[in-house]
Amino acid sequence: MAQVITATAPGKIILFGEHAVVYGQPALAAPVYGLQATASIQANDPGSGLTIQADDLGLQLSLAEEATNALVKTAYLVLEQLRQQEPDATITIRSSIPVAAGLGSGAAVSAALARALAAYLGEPLGDEVLSALVYEIEKLHHGTPSGIDNTVICHGKPVYFVREQPIETFHISRPFHLLIADSGIASPTHIAVGAVRAAWEKAPDTYDRLFNQIGAISRAAREAIESGQTAALGPLMNENQVLLRAIEVSSPELERLINVARAAGAGGAKLSGGGRGGNIIALTRRKQIEAISQALKQAGARHVYHTVVE
Ligand code: PMV
Repeated sequence: MAQVITATAPGKIILFGEHAVVYGQPALAAPVYGLQATASIQANDPGSGLTIQADDLGLQLSLAEEATNALVKTAYLVLEQLRQQEPDATITIRSSIPVAAGLGSGAAVSAALARALAAYLGEPLGDEVLSALVYEIEKLHHGTPSGIDNTVICHGKPVYFVREQPIETFHISRPFHLLIADSGIASPTHIAVGAVRAAWEKAPDTYDRLFNQIGAISRAAREAIESGQTAALGPLMNENQVLLRAIEVSSPELERLINVARAAGAGGAKLSGGGRGGNIIALTRRKQIEAISQALKQAGARHVYHTVVE
């Protein structure tokens, strides 16, 4: 049987600093290894060209026919980068990362595909090159992404991210537990980002002040994580949420889930990602995971995931 090469990439969650990161403030994000995209590549008949099969997404694509598709574009970018011809092979994509939920599904699928294809061609991509390549694809999804998704997902490490700065990872002294609750409300990131930009253009001083305050929270959170003061993260999440509400990216449904998590014992909670829908995250102790998950589900969360940031 022909050799199969498999590559993976994790999902991601933004811990602090979403939106403000677009305006140059720092944000913290971490990979979520419990959710991942996998790409397997295997030789196919001579002359068949490269096909991409993504059953989870209901897609079967051939390179020749679907030049505008993001997965096909990813494959083209890899071939261009490596100056190689399209191989006769089939790439199969699987992903357990929910789509359009702020968990980095698009970036992870592209990263897994690019990794698998480059390895198949005998020239594995370094994380930095991979990240730059996936950023090109992110631009198709989001317009003007900050680059945080591709950075965290391609490096697979918690990242202190400042736009257009070299990647900075940070040390997690004490692992901590998060619950990620999906509101089930689809909210395309570029729409939330566009609305914040329109509001910033109308009231730049007010918004710059709010972004600065969010940046200060990200810096404080990094310090707390590095020094093992994980209990301090709860109040910082709550403060970040107040500011996210002020820039109008929260919603009644997100507020409800956040309040339920706090009432059930979470140390703090906030929305994560673009907002207006998508996910909230809640800081929990190990022994509270079950109770808080239940409360979130009863309050209408579509899915609740547990992850350890370590
Ligand atoms: O919705 P997500 O998880 O893709 O995150 C968007 C994060 C923003 O800061 C709102 C936008 C960005 O490009 O960083």
